[in-house]
Amino acid sequence: MSALILDGRKCAKHYLMEARRQAGDLSRAPGISVIRVGEDPASKVYVSKKAARAQRLGYVQRTIVLSENATEQAVLEQVNLLNSDDSIDGILVQLPLPNHINAQRVLDSIEPSKDVDGFHIHNAGALSQGRPEVVPCTPKGVMRLLSFYDISLSGKHAVVIGRSNIVGRPMAQLLEQANATVTVCHSRTQNLQGILANADIVVAAVGRAHFVKGEWLKADSVVIDVGINRLDDGRLVGDVAFETAVNHCAAITPVPGGIGPMTIAMLMENTLRQSERHQNS
Ligand code: GUN
Repeated sequence: MSALILDGRKCAKHYLMEARRQAGDLSRAPGISVIRVGEDPASKVYVSKKAARAQRLGYVQRTIVLSENATEQAVLEQVNLLNSDDSIDGILVQLPLPNHINAQRVLDSIEPSKDVDGFHIHNAGALSQGRPEVVPCTPKGVMRLLSFYDISLSGKHAVVIGRSNIVGRPMAQLLEQANATVTVCHSRTQNLQGILANADIVVAAVGRAHFVKGEWLKADSVVIDVGINRLDDGRLVGDVAFETAVNHCAAITPVPGGIGPMTIAMLMENTLRQSERHQNS
């Protein structure tokens, strides 16, 4: 039997409409600024999607593009300007940054109350202690999609593949805080197949096309594919081999149309929440 397809576009639309409605109740529109450094093709697509969505919700939106050769100091100066700009509630520095820039130093220079990624050390620490202030958009979107489809987590074995600060690590923390038993797998993990044979929930965030084989999945498992990989023929595919997986699990997110739209919806929500904080303080 074919798996239930978890429709991220439908779920995202629901939360975007909610964000638009709540933003309309504020005395000024939420403001977001996205900084892109360099010309990475994937980053260009993601940044323009974020900007377009913010505009469609009626947010103030400013995209700042710096050249590939921009110094770390130049990026820090931009962040500083935005930190003291009262029309901007959210600052997002698109990752990856060029190698000569220390990304964590840049992320930590963002005023924590304007951090809409949850990557500032203060916000990452707060989440790790189970008292979240800003939750990273992709893992937050995964949790929201699971809840939209009434998928319970308590007592379940969740396997997260990937341990990045952007997805894997905060994902594991959120799943554990929702009372799942969490296994984190990564590039040095041995016998991934054996671990997945016991996984009720699988979150794949490795960034390698078709890394997880459909045959490895448990028949009643729920599979969340965070990967967005472009093949040589131009096709976008996830980290999971969808065509076989769809016949081996109970529910799965498609790529595209799964977690991607949820990430953007959660960014809009995080920006709205920060704007509320600024407007009520
Ligand atoms: N690059 C890939 N995903 C993300 C994200 O969620 N936030 C930022 N800032 N950069 C990213």
